[in-house]
Amino acid sequence: MKGIFITMEGPDGSGKTTQIELLKKYLESKGYDIIITREPGGTAISEAIRKIILNPEYSEMSHMTELLLYASARAQLVNQVIKPALEQGKAVICDRFVESSAVYQGIGRGLGVETVYEVNSYALGNVKPELTIFMDLEAEEGIKRKKNQAELDRMEMEDLSFHKRVVEGYRQLAGLYPERIVSINATLPIDEIHSMIIQEVEKRFF
Ligand code: TYD
Repeated sequence: MKGIFITMEGPDGSGKTTQIELLKKYLESKGYDIIITREPGGTAISEAIRKIILNPEYSEMSHMTELLLYASARAQLVNQVIKPALEQGKAVICDRFVESSAVYQGIGRGLGVETVYEVNSYALGNVKPELTIFMDLEAEEGIKRKKNQAELDRMEMEDLSFHKRVVEGYRQLAGLYPERIVSINATLPIDEIHSMIIQEVEKRFF
């Protein structure tokens, strides 16, 4: 079996986790061993970096530090988990990946999408997602869904205009790479979204 690498993207609160669980069941039914992971995180080192990045006390963190920390967490996850899994023919689903850096740091923070992809090329090597699902949701709606949570992390504490830039950024990226990044309206019912995702997976992999 050939490895499959799918990433799930979208603003905070867009329902990625639910869809990842459903996609996992579907890919299992196709006989795949599945690895589900998330960013920043997915290894002991990357989870430790995550704690630094998202700590609300570190309000002094520079945008470049933030970009490099996300890329460091990613480098470890790629080398320790994603690359070996793909080489073993597994299906890897990652909750957020390099497109999160492109929109949050590249567009949200204003570091530029090109800079972000350049920095991340060192973290990725030749590992690239074959399909990226973008759960498209207005920033206001995502924030509303997240506000029900107890504590907000350092990224979630950003103002509405930041989160709006993030959503616009995702839409731009999806327009730039339509063959890889598929936009799905995240306000649709869960089972409808799942069917749409499966259609895209079947088109590419089966
Ligand atoms: P997380 O709790 O995983 O968010 P969510 O549940 O919404 O997926 O927190 C990750 C946060 O980090 C989220 O606000 C997006 C942000 N992020 C970046 O800014 N750049 C990145 O490269 C990644 C992977 C995440």
